[in-house]
Amino acid sequence: MEHNDLANEIRNKVDIVDVIGERIPLVKKGRNFFGVCPFHDDTNPSMSVSREKQIFRCFSCGTSGNVFTFLMNYEHKEFKEVLQELGSQVGISVSNIKVPKRASKYDNLYNAYQLTCKYFQNNLVSPYGKAARIYLDERGLKDDIIKEFEIGLSLPQRNDLTLLLQSKNYDLSQLNDIGLSAGSNDSYSDRIMFPLYDPYGKIVGFSGRIYKESNQSKYVNTKDTVLFKKGDCLYHYHKAVDEARVSKSIIIMEGFMDVIRAYSIGVKNTVALMGTAFTDSQSRLIKRLSKNIILCLDGDPPGRHAALKIGEKLLEDGIEAKVITIPNNDDPDSYIIKMGKEKFLSLIDTAIPFGDYKISALKENVNFKSDEDLALYIQNVIQEVVKINDEIRAEIILKKLAKDYNIGYNTLEKRFRQLQQNQQEKISPIKIEDKLPKKPRKSKYIIAIEQVIYYMLNHEEVIEKVEEEKMIFPSNEARILTNEIIYFYRNHRYIDIASFYTYLQDKPDLLQYLNEIVSSNYKEDWNEDDLYAYFKVIEDYRLSQEIKRLEKLMKEESDCLEQAKIAEQIRKLRLGEKKTWLEKLKH
Ligand code: CTP
Ligand code: MN
Repeated sequence: MEHNDLANEIRNKVDIVDVIGERIPLVKKGRNFFGVCPFHDDTNPSMSVSREKQIFRCFSCGTSGNVFTFLMNYEHKEFKEVLQELGSQVGISVSNIKVPKRASKYDNLYNAYQLTCKYFQNNLVSPYGKAARIYLDERGLKDDIIKEFEIGLSLPQRNDLTLLLQSKNYDLSQLNDIGLSAGSNDSYSDRIMFPLYDPYGKIVGFSGRIYKESNQSKYVNTKDTVLFKKGDCLYHYHKAVDEARVSKSIIIMEGFMDVIRAYSIGVKNTVALMGTAFTDSQSRLIKRLSKNIILCLDGDPPGRHAALKIGEKLLEDGIEAKVITIPNNDDPDSYIIKMGKEKFLSLIDTAIPFGDYKISALKENVNFKSDEDLALYIQNVIQEVVKINDEIRAEIILKKLAKDYNIGYNTLEKRFRQLQQNQQEKISPIKIEDKLPKKPRKSKYIIAIEQVIYYMLNHEEVIEKVEEEKMIFPSNEARILTNEIIYFYRNHRYIDIASFYTYLQDKPDLLQYLNEIVSSNYKEDWNEDDLYAYFKVIEDYRLSQEIKRLEKLMKEESDCLEQAKIAEQIRKLRLGEKKTWLEKLKH
């Protein structure tokens, strides 16, 4: 069977509202469902999902598509994978279908890391790996975990990996570029190797840990390359994607040993920061996983400081995280080893909202006997309460503050309102829309073309009118897209946007144009008068373009006879060698 037919058979058995709804909260408004678009940095529900049409579209960032497009983008999967996944849910087998695979220009680099990873894993089980295996065993890392995290070992010889990769036709400069070799030597020697993955699960680097007494740095990481930026990396993200959906929360830890330890006791919705400051791109990535973010950083002062910084950043980015405090300077790894699984699970339950955490952190180093200190402290707390932006919690906190320090609630509330007012004045000029690149205003004829195409996508009658009136669209992409719509309609005897997306699957340029149209809020209900008015705009434009073209041709023509012929053509066009349908228009 042709893969498009099969795809649409599968598509007809699933509901895009369910599929998206399982991943992103959707709210029904009128005929459509709305949610926060996962494809751009957004906090407003600007993505709409239509059950009728089986498509989604974001009016803010202009992404649109059917259920396949959504899953491919959201889960970073190939078309075939998505087909298989949905197919198995509805009992349709997709095994023997051929869909062309997208080749990535980085495939060769990914392969190098993959090969390297296998090589490190083999070293670990080789006779030389004994000391490393003992080290891992003493740290309580069992074979299944070592396998799951693809942990390996680099050998103390200086260039065995480099030689291996060279024998596979990688050249030295390339190996240096991707951080596997340094000069003609290997970048790592005699370290336990942890592969680092990109958000889609591809290995893009390594972190190597010493395992013998040594004064070298504890970890060495792959340098930043085209595929890897340490500051953007969230360890274990690719697996936490699914886990976060199940547990409806995501836990952030500091080190990857923390993540691995938590995993080994079944807490798998975790990522690690790898010891870097929390960046914008990490914030964006994490927000995609869950809005319920739990900070579980080390219990030492740097860890507590990090919790304050990361919590503050997330709050600026629109999310109030929760914070767990690990006692006694432990990190999640050492806490779990000492206290065990159950204690760690109950510790997770003690997570408090970041605002409360911040307020209690403000207490540190305040001399409550000094009126001045106390006043400053109260001022700071109120400032935090404003940031939390939750009136009920504000009232609770202010009441408690009033009681604890014996201050009138009204006094506190008044100050709260003042600071709230200041904050609003500060932030109101920046709107979400301002952050998006402004779409250029479209000209009248482009609007007419796109509106007609949108009608065609929704109404078979309009396709028939376009054919009947032999409309010629004056831009290449519009011509090609409308031809495809007509072709699709002739073959299927119906049109629906969702199936049409599948049909355009391997034509990225057209898909992009379709996206643009579908996400632009064009009218859906059509009537003949409007349609012909748009036809006229398009036809006038086409004629003016055609006349321009002929005039240019005429200028370049040296033969008088030919010139006269062209002039006659132009005259006819001007006079209106017009289509009969134009008479239908009432003016
Ligand atoms: N890190 C690093 N280079 C270092 C130290 C730390 O890149 N020299 C990164 C690692 O990714 C590490 C994270 O920072 O996972 C947290 O550091 P730390 O808490 O020191 O690591 P642990 O997870 O405690 O490592 P271990 O338990 O193996 O000592
Ligand atoms: Mn540790």
